[in-house]
Amino acid sequence: MINILNRPRFLGTHAPLISDLSLILILLTAIMFTIGWQLARQKQYEAHRWVQTAAACLNAIVVLGVMIRSFVVHILPGVPGKLLEGDYGVTTVHAIVGMIALLLGLFVVLRANKLVPKGLRFKNYKLFMRTSYSLYMLATFIGVIVYLEVYVLGI
Ligand code: HEM
Repeated sequence: MINILNRPRFLGTHAPLISDLSLILILLTAIMFTIGWQLARQKQYEAHRWVQTAAACLNAIVVLGVMIRSFVVHILPGVPGKLLEGDYGVTTVHAIVGMIALLLGLFVVLRANKLVPKGLRFKNYKLFMRTSYSLYMLATFIGVIVYLEVYVLGI
């Protein structure tokens, strides 16, 4: 199983299968977040809540299951000494933006599903949701740059 996950060329790049799968799943969550946003604009709030909850959970599974481990093994030992070398800098920026997006996104999902204590139930939905959507998209964009740098350009 581990061998299959490390086999490259699924998408025709040098990436192991596990990175290709995580790229595909994260792009899927980006599409889901965008569909969910459109549902909110159409005032279909129940469908919006379900789609965003599913997208945030899928995103969290990929980040916790693949990325954080990869960061700890490959990048963290080079921080801060190698930040100006290879993909260390951009991956570290990606990890910081991604971590904030993940935590804020999960908090918004918990709040929307009434799973946080009353004191934390913010009313300003627009501000929180727009901020977490923007951070998810920014993390995805920088993640795609990381993928291209590492597995296409071979930096
Ligand atoms: C909203 C949260 C996040 C999104 C949307 C996101 C998105 C992406 C995408 C699209 C890629 C390229 C596909 C891949 O190589 O797996 C990627 C790679 C990566 N991300 Fe994230 N990411 C997020 C959070 C994080 C966090 C919190 C960390 C670390 C603490 C992290 C570390 C990495 C690393 C190390 C890679 C390269 C993985 C590899 O070895 O292939 N990411 N991310």
